[in-house]
Amino acid sequence: MKKGPYYLTTPIYYPSGKLHIGHTYTTVAADTIARYKRLQGYDVFFLTGTDEHGQKIERKAKEEGKNPKDYVDEIVFWIKDLWNYYGISYDRFIRTTDEEHKEGVQEIFRRLEKKGDIYKDKYAGWYCVPCETFWLERQLENKTCPDCNRKVEWMEEESYFFRLSNYADRLLEYIENNPEFIQPDTRRNEMVNFIKQGLEDLCISRTSINWGVPIPGAPGHVAYVWIDALSNYLTGINFPEGKKFQKFWPADLHLVGKEIMRFHTIIWPIMLLALDLPLPKQVFGHGWLILDQEKMSKSRGNVVDPFALGEEFGVDAIRYYLLREVVFGSDGNYSLSALIKRINYDLANDLGNLLHRTVTMIDKYFGGKIPKPGPEIDPDGSLKAEAINALGEVETNLDRLFFQNGLEGLWKFIRRSNKYIDETQPWILARDEAQKERLGTVLYNLAEALRIISLALRPFMPDTPHGIWQQLGLKKDLAKIPWEAAKKWGEIPAGTKIRKGKPLFPRLELEDYEDWVAKENGEKEGKEETKQEQQFSQVDFARFKEIDLRVARIERVEPVEGSDNLLKLQVSLGEETRQVVAGLAQEYEPWDLVGRNVAFVANLEPAEIFGVRSEGMILAAGEKGKMKIVEIPGVNPGSPIS
Ligand code: ME8
Repeated sequence: MKKGPYYLTTPIYYPSGKLHIGHTYTTVAADTIARYKRLQGYDVFFLTGTDEHGQKIERKAKEEGKNPKDYVDEIVFWIKDLWNYYGISYDRFIRTTDEEHKEGVQEIFRRLEKKGDIYKDKYAGWYCVPCETFWLERQLENKTCPDCNRKVEWMEEESYFFRLSNYADRLLEYIENNPEFIQPDTRRNEMVNFIKQGLEDLCISRTSINWGVPIPGAPGHVAYVWIDALSNYLTGINFPEGKKFQKFWPADLHLVGKEIMRFHTIIWPIMLLALDLPLPKQVFGHGWLILDQEKMSKSRGNVVDPFALGEEFGVDAIRYYLLREVVFGSDGNYSLSALIKRINYDLANDLGNLLHRTVTMIDKYFGGKIPKPGPEIDPDGSLKAEAINALGEVETNLDRLFFQNGLEGLWKFIRRSNKYIDETQPWILARDEAQKERLGTVLYNLAEALRIISLALRPFMPDTPHGIWQQLGLKKDLAKIPWEAAKKWGEIPAGTKIRKGKPLFPRLELEDYEDWVAKENGEKEGKEETKQEQQFSQVDFARFKEIDLRVARIERVEPVEGSDNLLKLQVSLGEETRQVVAGLAQEYEPWDLVGRNVAFVANLEPAEIFGVRSEGMILAAGEKGKMKIVEIPGVNPGSPIS
């Protein structure tokens, strides 16, 4: 049965705020593979965790008036709770603040240095703090980050550099000889083009921040956060000395979002080449969950809370939706109406009904005991054959991370089983005592179909298979039944007492979720209104003078929940502090606004925007997406603008 080690990882997430359904998407996908491989008999090690150092977290903590460790501790606690809630079966949760990890990173620096791949120089260039990425002048347009479109910052400091360029040829050769290394194929082409444009040496230490792993023998230098973060894949299995490292390296699969493919398929393999370690077998870059045409992201604030979704719809339904709705390599829209449709059609109708109809009939016609099957006649053979087909489809598709097709294959069988009921018409058989044996066969086959379905569902959904199992009256520990057992027909002992229960998934009415949908759509409407507001009209001087324009200093900023472009700001007008909501989230990072002096309309009627009170208005210029606040540096807050 044992098939050898299998090591897979998720990205380690920034605990810069609570995670959203986008992070849940990656983690659920990884968990599905981990569960599947375990059932197949692999010795699985599934690593996830948090990326806790760097400038972004340092600033975020400062904004909150906390020290970085206290700041991340709270969020990490929340994240672990979230993964428990979603049934994530990780084997280790690594934190980059773990002592053992820090020592591992230091060892990596020592080895790179010994290899002669590190040199000291001065870095002068651009940096995107939210992405923690260095950019070259030629890669930028309007001084914004090509990945996230936010403003980059100029940085000048003494740094250590890593000779990436030395390894470009070896990496290209590896990529060419190992087409499975970068998946899907389209991402491989992107990466190859990127490398062929020429690699610059990488700045791998920072002196202007403290919150990081100290570099051995280089006082004042901490590791660049991406070097620190990528190393987790080694330190998570106790690099350099641990047994797990011997057993599990190289990793079988790094699952990541497409925006961090460059780090995982260029910097990371080059680090490994320099360390003389084998490269991971595969890096898979999946697409984004999109909300209202934009990538869902913490800093944009257009996020969907995974706890709230799970509580409302059930964790298994959300896991199913995430894996079923979107082609894994491509971007896909998150929408509540699509989620409700999936729950109603696939879960309540197809799967829920199959179970409910089957146990109801066993109850009614056989006093709640699964009958003994008689001889096989049509269409029994086709039902059995399609069960095997479905399992085959789940396997081939999960092996390639085609979650959607795997589930579709399984659902074809679920629908086929429902059709079997319509074809065999058990309620007609039940009217004729002479057909009792045939009726028993039909119901036995349905129970078997459900047993197989529940076994095949295990990687995707942690609870539902137990629900099915329980109603069928089956006793064995589901986790201990190997994947292969699903391929055997006729495993349920005749006479098993079923336990008819409630439907697995209740049907939902979209109308009951009007407030959820309104929240999703709220932003779109808001955007249209701003267009209509853009009219010119003439105002006389006296009326203009009625506007109390003042200098305000921005003190605190946070995103407005449920909106992708609104920020909630606390501004100081000297003696008074005001709260104001401004549509600036697309142009500025919250922390980036803090400390700036802006032009402020101080006598606007207070308003409620997205449920948040707003007492004034910040002036800005330019089109949406390229807007700049009107800044008035060097003047005391509260001063009138005349
Ligand atoms: O990048 N759709 O952390 P992070 C799909 N710390 N997936 C999404 C998503 C969305 N809208 N938003 C986030 C980092 N993700 C680094 C990683 S690894 C050595 C260091 C998922 O908190 C997706 O997997 O920004 C993406 O790559 C990851 O979260 C980024 O998480």
